[in-house]
Order: sequence, then structure tokens, then C-alpha cells
Amino acid sequence: MSTPDLSGRHLLLGVTGSIAAYKAASLVRLFTTAGAEVRVLMTESASEFVTPLTLGTLSGGEVLTDVFPENEEGNWTKHVTLGAWADLFVVAPATAQTVAKLAHGFCDSMLTATALSARCPLLVCPAMDREMYRHPTVRDNLERLSEIGYEVMPAERGELASGLVGQGRMPEPEAIRSRVAEQFSESSSPTQHSDPSPGEDTPLSGAAVLVTAGPTREPLDPVRVFTNRSTGTMGYAIAEAAAARGAAVTLVSGPTALDAPAEMEMVQVGTAAEMNEAVQARRDDADYVFAAAAVADYTPTDPSASKRKKEDGDLVLHLRRTPDILKMVGDHRRPDQVLVGFALETEDGLDNARRKLEDKHLDWIVLNNPTETGAGFGPATNRVTLLARDGAMEELPLMQKTELANTLLDRVIRASRSGSPA
Ligand code: C5P
Repeated sequence: MSTPDLSGRHLLLGVTGSIAAYKAASLVRLFTTAGAEVRVLMTESASEFVTPLTLGTLSGGEVLTDVFPENEEGNWTKHVTLGAWADLFVVAPATAQTVAKLAHGFCDSMLTATALSARCPLLVCPAMDREMYRHPTVRDNLERLSEIGYEVMPAERGELASGLVGQGRMPEPEAIRSRVAEQFSESSSPTQHSDPSPGEDTPLSGAAVLVTAGPTREPLDPVRVFTNRSTGTMGYAIAEAAAARGAAVTLVSGPTALDAPAEMEMVQVGTAAEMNEAVQARRDDADYVFAAAAVADYTPTDPSASKRKKEDGDLVLHLRRTPDILKMVGDHRRPDQVLVGFALETEDGLDNARRKLEDKHLDWIVLNNPTETGAGFGPATNRVTLLARDGAMEELPLMQKTELANTLLDRVIRASRSGSPA
């Protein structure tokens, strides 16, 4: 197997207390020989299996365990700096205990606190005994990790430390290194090391920002609706990032499970028609429009006032097109406005995105593909390609949606201030 190139990559390796922790030494070697810079975080129980001295020597750096290390008064912010430094955080092996803590937001060790501070993707490699791996709570916790956008590398089958045979073995270090290399190659362009204080040179004070987010819900009758899988996470992240930069934000949101963000005007809508009305009424006041909503393209022509009864045979529905909200904003745009759309495409992404950028008279379009791991609806992460009106294109690496929101704002604000055509 040829050695993948990880040069210039910042890898955090979290090691927890499983017998497989001894393999962390090979993993560190494999990462460093591929050119990565590695920092190791261990839980206390991991040091029962492998010493911090071993992993520190191999990684060439200090191995951290406690959030509040003894004899280092005042030095308790390393989880934040490490979280911003890392391009990828690999937790291998991940015990049932650490999986549970990661799934529920515990931060009682350097490892778990850094996971909460991390702006990069996480790759979790569970290792535990067969019955533990099968246990419903562990299954639920692993599911939760996937939901929040962490990648879980399934445990392998084989002989386990207990003598049982089954699923629970940590994947071999080479397989983990290959997965890490794949993650970076999927994001293709070299990792952009994030600005530790986003927005410092791109504030938005005095600007009005209009954001659409979430799905729309089109009624068929009083109890049934047509909708889609949008969670609203991306739009809410943009609205919050813009508000944090001092903008006067209006968030027009379809139904989501997210809490209404503070410090902005929030307009809750249900249907595409309602979203359209809310947006068109406010469009002229907006300096920036970010249309992140997944608006239904069709709505039932004749929603029934009472619940439709089941009948024999198939049901034929008539649907009509909804208004294209963003196109209407683009058609009536103020020349100094900046319009940003999103395109969710599963095929011919670039062509379709460019066409939408033109048709809707946008300045930018953010292309994403929901079928890629970690991208699209649902996960807390996304990988997008940013296309500008002047033809410029930038592939951004996989990142948390909160970080992506700040990266998008940085790009869009800088371009609009430099008078670039985009
Ligand atoms: O659905 P489509 O791919 O055309 O969506 C591209 C962009 O247009 C997105 O930013 C979306 O929020 C917006 N849009 C809209 N109203 C629609 C359909 C899409 O504002 N009816």
C-alpha cells in the first residue's frame, strides 16, 4: 500500500482506555510518516494501556489529558486552541464510555472538551467487546454521533480481547490512515487554516441581512403535508454568524426543530407562499440576502379543508409550482445588493449551479451534494463549492456548518467591499 500524502495536515488523535490503545502508537507513526503534524490527547484510562511518554515521543509533542493540568495555573484554554488548530480529530480507539460522552456533550477531560471546541470534522473509531458494541445504548450513541455530523468508522469483526469472536475490533491503523487520507482528498483543496476570530476584518455593523432557512411544508389536507429533509442548520448558522458581526438580521424560517436565535427578527412561516410573502415584503431593505431555505417546488393544487378519506385504488394528486422566491428577489434586485443562493444537486452540480446563478441574477451560489458523506441536509458539517458571478470557483473542505457560515460571510463581504464583480 502506498503511503498517502498528509503533509501540512494537522491531526488530533484522541486515545481512550481500550486494549486497542496500544495500536495508537502505530497510528501516530503512520500519520507522521505520511507528513501530518500530530497532537495526542489521552483519557486517564488510556494511560493504563499505553504511556503518554510513548505517544509523546512518537508525535514529538506534549500529550494532554486534563483540562486543568496540575502546576499549570491559568493554562486551561488549550482545548480551544487545539480545536481551532486541527484539520481532523480522530478518536481511536473510542470506548463505549467516550462514545457516550461525545454523543451527549460531556467535557470532563481534555479529549471531550476539545471535541466540543473543535471546528474540524471528527472521525470516531469505536473499539469494545462484542456485547457492548451490540448494546442498544451504544448503538443509539453511535447513531447520535452520525446525526451530529461525526463520521463513525464501524468496528471490525474478529477475535476480541475477551476471547469472544464478533464485531468490536478497532479497524487496523492502516485502514484508519487510508480513511483519513480519503477524507482529505474528498475535500481536495488544501485545508484552509481557520481564522481564529472570524469576522474581525469583515464586520457587518450597519448592514441588513435577510436569511431564509429550513424546509417549507405544503398542506395536502389539515393533517398531511409535503416537505423535505432540510433541518435549517445552515441558514440558522449564517443568521447567527451575521448577527455576531453586528448585522441587523431577519431570519425567515420554515418549520425546524431549532431554537429561535436571539438578537434578530425571526419570521416563522409554513408554506412556500408564506415564505415568499415574508421575503418580498423585506427584500428591498436587505443589503445581503442568503437564501438557504429548501423551498418546495410544488404544492397541492387544491388542499382539502377536511382530512381526505382512504378510498379504494390509487390516489392521483395535482400539484402546482410554487413561486421562485429568490428569482423574484434577483429580478427586482437593488444594484448594490448582494444575493447568495444555494444549490443542492445530486448530478451535474456545477452546470446546474451556474445556470441557477445566471437565471436568478445572483452574485454567489453555494453548491452542495446531499449524497456525499458529511454534506447536505442533516449533518452538522458540510462540504461545498462556492461559485461567483465572475466565474471564480472555490472548493471548500469539509467543515462544521458554523465555520462554513463564517467562511461564506468572509468571502462574500470581502468581495463586495473590494468592488469585485462577484
Ligand atoms: O430549488 P433551486 O435549486 O432552484 O434553489 C436554488 C436557490 O433558490 C436556493 O437558494 C433556494 O433557497 C432558492 N429558492 C427559492 N424559492 C424557490 C426555490 C428555490 O427561493 N421556490
